[in-house]
Amino acid sequence: MEVPKRPQIRKRTRHESTASVPQFTNSPTMIVMVGLPARGKTYISKKLTRYLNWIGVPTKVFNVGQYRREAVKSYKSFEFFRPDNEEAMKIRKACAVAALKDVCEYFTREHGQVAVFDATNTTRERREVILSFAKENGYKVFFVESLCDDPEIIAENIKQVKLSSPDYIGCDKEEAVADFLKRIECYKITYVPLDDDKDRNLSYIKIFNVGSRYLVNRVQDHIQSRIVYYLMNIHVTPRTIYLCRHGESELNLLGRIGGDSGLSPRGIKFAAALGTYIRSQCIPDLKIWTSHMRRTIQTAEAVGVPYEQWKALNEIDAGVCEEMTYEEIQDHYPEEFALRDQDKYRYRYPKGESYEDLVHRLEPVIMELERQENVLVICHQAVMRCLLAYFLDKSAEELPYLKCPLHTVLKLTPVAYGCKVESIFLNIEAVNTHRDKPMNVDVSRDPEEALLTVPEHI
Ligand SMILES: *[C@@H]1O[C@H](CO)[C@@H](O)[C@H](O)[C@H]1NC(C)=O
Ligand SMILES: *[C@@H]1O[C@H](CO)[C@@H](O)[C@H](O)[C@H]1NC(C)=O
Repeated sequence: MEVPKRPQIRKRTRHESTASVPQFTNSPTMIVMVGLPARGKTYISKKLTRYLNWIGVPTKVFNVGQYRREAVKSYKSFEFFRPDNEEAMKIRKACAVAALKDVCEYFTREHGQVAVFDATNTTRERREVILSFAKENGYKVFFVESLCDDPEIIAENIKQVKLSSPDYIGCDKEEAVADFLKRIECYKITYVPLDDDKDRNLSYIKIFNVGSRYLVNRVQDHIQSRIVYYLMNIHVTPRTIYLCRHGESELNLLGRIGGDSGLSPRGIKFAAALGTYIRSQCIPDLKIWTSHMRRTIQTAEAVGVPYEQWKALNEIDAGVCEEMTYEEIQDHYPEEFALRDQDKYRYRYPKGESYEDLVHRLEPVIMELERQENVLVICHQAVMRCLLAYFLDKSAEELPYLKCPLHTVLKLTPVAYGCKVESIFLNIEAVNTHRDKPMNVDVSRDPEEALLTVPEHI
């Protein structure tokens, strides 16, 4: 029997489409940002992109402002943005077209799934251009509109991110703010928000005053509902997230992975030092989370404040390799050991988990971290790598090799579009548990080559 390669196209009933390329369930999606300048469009674009990439949906931001900056090397003033500046108008239109072309390239050549189109001029006309471009190519479109009428929020946004923009380098602060406010006025002349009635057939979410209210219209698929869910969980209240591992464990000392051992004497000292450090920080309403494993619970006990246990924070399940040393893994399962070195992110231990599995298991933890304010997460090496990769936007290739040493607290503070990281070593010695990728990852390698990067242990 012949199996068709492409999914069968069912006759459309609800949205009669004349698209030249049919739309499939898994067709790529364009997220189109709508809203005046300083409404957090770039913030949302970057954050959403980081999240989607972390959960394994290849996503990229296309910032039309950046194309404009490249086309017009030096920014002079808001005059550029006046609707009657024809020369500038042409440039801006050309930039939007160039960005759309790159979106196409991204979907076809680079296997992208979601493109976030971060542009400012989103008049109804311009939205039509994007919609017909998407229709021609069989892409789905989801609009994200950020509306804000609170002058304080807008002023804060200008201060946080706009003043450090390349447009205002070496500019007087007050002049820059004044220029930016005039730029916003230019956009106000033509700006048309998404309309309840006229745009009722479009898929979109409207976010009012950074999340005090939402309006969601015609969500088309799973990915769009994930996006809506994520956007409804994030907030912009300043806060700090502390990440650390449990204190050194008995099995850490022996160079054995996994298991459920208690703390070593140095691990107990670390737990006490962690308590002292946390108290010295005077963090309001701090939540503490641990896994269900003894070593994280013992660590939290020493901090002396209530904590919550999450099974989802348990260390990666090493399956048949649980409680083995790397030397024993090489001895018993040399091929498995090499396969893991070849693709550490996707490699799954027999009867255990991969880093990729772990990311999926941790997704509810990330969502709850987004909802919360100050949190200390006491977890494990592989778990901490996954959480850190989310906050620092690290790729699947980098993730399993991120350095998360024992007895070191990472302090993460959101700043502008990213995250500031401070690493605080609490001065209690511990064994090293970090194994770098060896040069030779071939299944036929010698045992010595496989064990070259194993850290020292008893
Ligand atoms: C936005 O684009 C439309 C046409 O695409 C144009 O008429 C309008 O003036 C532009 N707005 C600004 C602020 O440049
Ligand atoms: C929405 O779609 C329906 C059905 O395709 C169509 O009849 C209607 O005119 C559309 N409305 C708007 C405002 O585009």
